[in-house]
This record gives sequence, structure tokens and C-alpha cells, in this order.
Amino acid sequence: MQPLRLQSSQKVPAARFPCRVRLENGRRYAWCSCGHSQKQPFCDGAHRTKAPDMAPLRFSPEKDGGALLCACKETRTPPYCDGSHLRVLLRDLLGAARRLFK
Ligand code: FES
Repeated sequence: MQPLRLQSSQKVPAARFPCRVRLENGRRYAWCSCGHSQKQPFCDGAHRTKAPDMAPLRFSPEKDGGALLCACKETRTPPYCDGSHLRVLLRDLLGAARRLFK
């Protein structure tokens, strides 16, 4: 019997807050767009089995320095955080409140 594999072409939030990272000018990075990587915010190849329709976003920063990379996977400015995690947090809280009062 084969083990059950959950596959999805849907992104999942890896965390509710962005990842603070140090980036190097000209270096190539692969940002995890699916949320399944264990090496957030970067791709570890997990999308190949867990979200085969998705692919990492490859990017090269234009300067050295710190950056906030999105971990909720809802940003409109990938790979950088745009504050969308606040919407994700609010959605989670409202969902929890609805379940509490059912
Ligand atoms: S593991 Fe998420 S895009 Fe590769």
C-alpha cells in the first residue's frame, strides 16, 4: 500500500509573520511561493511533491542588506512582505471566533 500524499496547487501560509533575512546584491535566490518548504522563506524543492503546479520565484536583489520576505504567501509584491499577513491574521481570528460561537 502506498502512503497517502497530500497534493495541492494551492499555496499555504508557512508563517503568520514575514522572515527577516540578509540578502546579497547579485546573488540568486529562490523564494518559496507554495509555503511547503521547510527552509522558509526559501524553496527546498518541496513543491515538487506537495504543490506540483507551483514553482519558486527566482530573484536577485539590487543591493546588499536586510529584507522582510513574505511567509504568509499572500503578498502582492513577492517575494517581499507588503503587510498582507495582517489580513491573514485577521482572517484566522475571525475564523476562530466563528468556530467558538457556533
Ligand atoms: S518548496 Fe515552495 S516553491 Fe519550492
